Amino acid sequence: MRDHVYISDLNKHDGSRATLRGWLAHTRSKGRIHFLVMRDGSGICQCVVSMADVSPEVWKLCSDLTLESSFEARGKVRKDDRAPGGFELAVEELRAFQIIPEGNPYPIQPKEHGTEFLLDNRHLWLRSSRQHAILRVRDEVVKACRDFLYDRGFVLIDSPIFTPAACEGTSTLFETDYFGQKAYLTQSGQLYLEPAAQAFGRVFCFGPTFRAEKSKTRRHLTEFWMIEPEVAFAELDDIMELSEDLVVAITGRCLERKREELKRLERDLSRLESVQKPFPRMTYDEAARLLQSDEARGHAAESGAPPFEYGNDLGAADETFLGARFDRPIMISRYPASVKAFYMQPDPADPTKALCVDMIAPDGYGEIIGGSQRIHDYDLLLRRIEEHRLPRQAFEWYLDVRRYGSVPHSGFGMGIERLVTWITGIHHLRETIPYPRTLQRLYP
Ligand code: 4AD
Ligand code: MG
Repeated sequence: MRDHVYISDLNKHDGSRATLRGWLAHTRSKGRIHFLVMRDGSGICQCVVSMADVSPEVWKLCSDLTLESSFEARGKVRKDDRAPGGFELAVEELRAFQIIPEGNPYPIQPKEHGTEFLLDNRHLWLRSSRQHAILRVRDEVVKACRDFLYDRGFVLIDSPIFTPAACEGTSTLFETDYFGQKAYLTQSGQLYLEPAAQAFGRVFCFGPTFRAEKSKTRRHLTEFWMIEPEVAFAELDDIMELSEDLVVAITGRCLERKREELKRLERDLSRLESVQKPFPRMTYDEAARLLQSDEARGHAAESGAPPFEYGNDLGAADETFLGARFDRPIMISRYPASVKAFYMQPDPADPTKALCVDMIAPDGYGEIIGGSQRIHDYDLLLRRIEEHRLPRQAFEWYLDVRRYGSVPHSGFGMGIERLVTWITGIHHLRETIPYPRTLQRLYP
């Protein structure tokens, strides 16, 4: 059929003829009228078929079309303020691409299904309105990140997936056999961005990263996407400000362009509207004092989490407690160096602390950003590599960053799925990535 248009463009075709192509989301009939609700990925539109206006074949086809069958409909576009997208189609011609037989219906029906079943059918679940809304928000988040960084002069530098060395600790490495040599799936592009920052000044990478996380929490995936900016000459405060600006820009953009999706997900928009500068900042020591209060201890006991101990990294319950005290993300800096990565610059005021920052989202969503100033002194970095028992050989190239024109530099990584989980206000990370990979899931 001629004149194919997407449902989202129907407003440009009011009163004229158009062809829609998509899938049957819903159907009902009332005497001599069939209502076929079509979903085409860009929106939904009610196609109205009157027995009087179509051939007997088309009329029969209407009752043969089962849920999620693919078809195209041609007719006249009519404005109708009561219709979901504001327009409907008065059908004149109809053609099926494929009719799903009654005997083997589309597996996801309009009723309650268990999450495991839905995850097994993730390739089909993507069609559901809630999943559609979440992944549209993800798409907007990624666009907003790129726009933000490009506007500020950053250059995209893609980092490799196969790497010879660990970036974020050896306990979560995925090992592969690289033609007889050990290689690991990357945990972060950071090590490759640091030299690139010396070449381009301001760089970022955005790609999949891998952690063999043995934890089954709602915050962990084994494969997740991270956006990582890295800036030459930047110190900790500079990247704290950058991360703050980035998060404000992203939430603002989602409120502006993905309002409908967020409403469909029943997100409390006022929570996102309060995400404005400045974000509260505190040091690890200040956070530790709050976590050692009676209130915090009670909270930990209630949630069954071990009580916070000074010197340890913050756990999920600690982050939830701290995050709940504010209406926007908070930034916690200067953790004990011993619980953080080998490459972090020590705080000159207290070298047992690292010049690092974690951004914690409110409402129990936990850490969304981790970043730091990097060690720029050759001898100190070499010492750290040795202390962490990392194979020096695999890091020679990385040491070159400190051999040839070394400068202070800093960067951070933001997990896209953590961010989207918080922005959409959903419970579990796994719905924010098209095909989640977790401890128990490698299918579909
Ligand atoms: O704090 P992380 O481990 O930092 C790094 O990888 C640095 N090298 C980044 C940098 O400085 N360039 O991870 C950064 C972020 C976390 O804040 C979190 O949002 C996300 O990555 N993340 C995960 N997301 C989902 N599942 C997991 N298992 C994650 N681990 C980290
Ligand atoms: Mg971290």
